[in-house]
Amino acid sequence: MANRQIFMLGIESSCDETAAAIVVDDKRILANEIASQIETHAKHGGVVPEVAARAHLEVIDQVIGDALTKAKLKITDISGVAATAGPGLIGGVAVGTVTAKAIAAARKIPYYAVNHLEGHALSPRLAEDISFPYLLLLVSGGHTQLLAVAGPGHYHRYGTTMDDAAGEAFDKCAKAMGLGYPGGPAIEAVAKSGDSKSINLPRPLQGTTNCHFSFSGLKTALANKLQQLGGPDTAPIADLAASLQAAITDCLADRTQKAMLRFRDEFPPAEGQQPVLVIAGGVAANRYIFNRMQHDADTAGFRLLVPPAKLCTDNAAMIAWAALERLEAPNKLDFAPRPRWPLDPNASPPPGRGVRQ
Ligand code: KG4
Ligand code: ZN
Repeated sequence: MANRQIFMLGIESSCDETAAAIVVDDKRILANEIASQIETHAKHGGVVPEVAARAHLEVIDQVIGDALTKAKLKITDISGVAATAGPGLIGGVAVGTVTAKAIAAARKIPYYAVNHLEGHALSPRLAEDISFPYLLLLVSGGHTQLLAVAGPGHYHRYGTTMDDAAGEAFDKCAKAMGLGYPGGPAIEAVAKSGDSKSINLPRPLQGTTNCHFSFSGLKTALANKLQQLGGPDTAPIADLAASLQAAITDCLADRTQKAMLRFRDEFPPAEGQQPVLVIAGGVAANRYIFNRMQHDADTAGFRLLVPPAKLCTDNAAMIAWAALERLEAPNKLDFAPRPRWPLDPNASPPPGRGVRQ
């Protein structure tokens, strides 16, 4: 059947979004549905794993049904089903993978156990016509990684966080400052009227020779300044927010500059070709960070690419797409979910404390 189209159902449930999408092998996104748990978790100032797992279970059937309706397809039209099998909160991952396996078994179609990070890593190819290799800065609430993406299954991790992710630092600091959840957009908005040079905050690991990150010291430093300035009711919140945003941006920019040098060295571009830097993850929505990255990419001779927000933050289209990228290699139904699942198992761990991903 030479011209038969492949309709891939993707399911994502590794954090606080229950998502289902249907993507065709020609890159058309027929549906990309997301049920967010933001309101539920806002009450706690962050994601509570047990609450998240229960919430996934409550809505997953509905979200898949909505995706089919949106795509004007029946479940019998689906050619394969992919689900995030890790890394992530295991309760949520179990809900998504069990659902996907049930569909695959009942319909006798292939099942794909997708690495969530691989979903993010390959998502720019769903949005744009870019070829391997490219450099990826993945910055979200759960991950902060610099990766050379050489092809599906071929990743070189240049750096990761030793403790908190960048988005997590935004969220925790916003909570301390009384700015609500999610913290990134709130801090970006408030920072517009603040002075980014007014409050002196550290730049953890600045000048290090590797590409790893650390944000927990920054979070502590902000909490101390906040206290010294009288707490959230009296402290100059706009100045604190602007100074924090500048500190996080400096850290991301410093390591990304190093990664661009290393990438160009390891993957010299062909004559007339420009290397590509992709930023993905929720934090990529930040304009202040984007502007700095644009400047630094221009300086280093890289083309900067940020996939559209709907593909950049957690979504199921990227999970379906990751499966379409390795269509000939489905997984067995006994594939167990993995709370930890590094993309590059040979990557050198950051020195010091334990690695999170
Ligand atoms: O990719 P995402 O939707 O979910 C995962 O964490 O995987 O990212 C959410 C994170 C949150 O930490 C949120 O505070 C952060 O992205 N974020 C931002 C902005 N928008 C979302 N951080 C900084 N500036 C923003 N404008
Ligand atoms: Zn993610």
